[in-house]
Amino acid sequence: MFSAIQPAPPDPILGLTDAFKADPNPKKVNLGVGVYKDENANTPILKSVKEAEKRILESLNTKAYLPISGSPDYGNRVLEMVFGLQPGSSGSERVRSLHCPGGTGALRVGAEFLKEFAPASKAWVSTPTWANHKGVLSAAGLEVGAYAYYNPSTYSLDYSELKDALAQIPRGDIVVLHVCCHNPTGVDPTPAQWDEIVGIAAQKGWVPYLDFAYQGFGGDVEGDRYPVSRFLESGIEFLVASSFSKNFGLYHDRTGALSLVAANQRDAEAAFSHLKKIVRVIYSNPPAHGGFIVEQILGDADLKAKWLEELSQMGDRIREMRQLLVKGLAAAGVERDFSFIEKQKGMFSFSGLSDAQVNYLRDNNGIYMVGGGRMNVAGISRKNVDYLCEAIAHALRKV
Ligand SMILES: Cc1ncc(COP(=O)(O)O)c(C=O)c1O
Repeated sequence: MFSAIQPAPPDPILGLTDAFKADPNPKKVNLGVGVYKDENANTPILKSVKEAEKRILESLNTKAYLPISGSPDYGNRVLEMVFGLQPGSSGSERVRSLHCPGGTGALRVGAEFLKEFAPASKAWVSTPTWANHKGVLSAAGLEVGAYAYYNPSTYSLDYSELKDALAQIPRGDIVVLHVCCHNPTGVDPTPAQWDEIVGIAAQKGWVPYLDFAYQGFGGDVEGDRYPVSRFLESGIEFLVASSFSKNFGLYHDRTGALSLVAANQRDAEAAFSHLKKIVRVIYSNPPAHGGFIVEQILGDADLKAKWLEELSQMGDRIREMRQLLVKGLAAAGVERDFSFIEKQKGMFSFSGLSDAQVNYLRDNNGIYMVGGGRMNVAGISRKNVDYLCEAIAHALRKV
């Protein structure tokens, strides 16, 4: 059987890391895969995470399985962080959260659920969107369509096209929305635009499927959940796939959550029981370590304060690199106005560089970014920004 199989193409984003590692250029810069990097190009373990791990190691006395949905405390902490709700408070009875292996795992479990209970529904993703959305949704058997989102000529949200597209999506279909720090564009709707989007969802009857992978990187943890709170208040049903890979730096611990919001407690419990059935036949129960860390940090006031401080430092560094990049490009003689990069939110910048320019930078300068010109701004540092700006200036002249 195996001899008849041709190799699959490498993953467009993770494959870049392999190419970067193999590049002998001493000045190479990795702006590809979306992980936070510090000034020395390290992806550090947060101090709050190290402290939580120490406490976990000291107190842990079993490696018994977790419940299928993860520990109940984890669900409560997710309720507080993602929805701003205290367990037992009004509204919380509509929400159930499940500890999943990363945001990807959460998205897939939710997609399986939607395929089972809304088999004829189509799932809609933004143009462009995270490179893995389509694959995850279609692997669960959902048909995937695309809605308008970004205007490459203004480097901004195409709000009127977006609104028109959302108003035409049929009742019962599924609409994947990035809650903040849209990947890959870094362009988010304003709070007033979110209010209208929630109104369209309520009126048209499609099901919002919120992807919340960067909570805390847009502004802060509370401000970034604005759309989630508005959807909650609207009373409609929706799902949220959260990732704690970026905001806790728990990339390889595979830590995330799927939350469902139903019309009432009965419906939430019924749907939750089916989510557990789905998990049971895929991975049975979640990996514990990352979940324990999140639970420990969010459940302890001092550790939580430390973590929030570290999270805001990561966001500040990225914002500073955006400014340095824009300044550096102007200093390198680039005439095109790149100031839009400072307005984008989160880790990524949709730089406006063409695929040919992206390839040129990789082949000539060892600068790696994703096709379409997505740059991980966290890969920029004070040490490499001048090299990067000179190289981009050169590529813009040549290609
Ligand atoms: C928009 C978006 N959703 C989901 C994910 C998946 O997150 P995780 O790494 O936790 O699976 C990512 C990761 O890059 C992402 O950018």
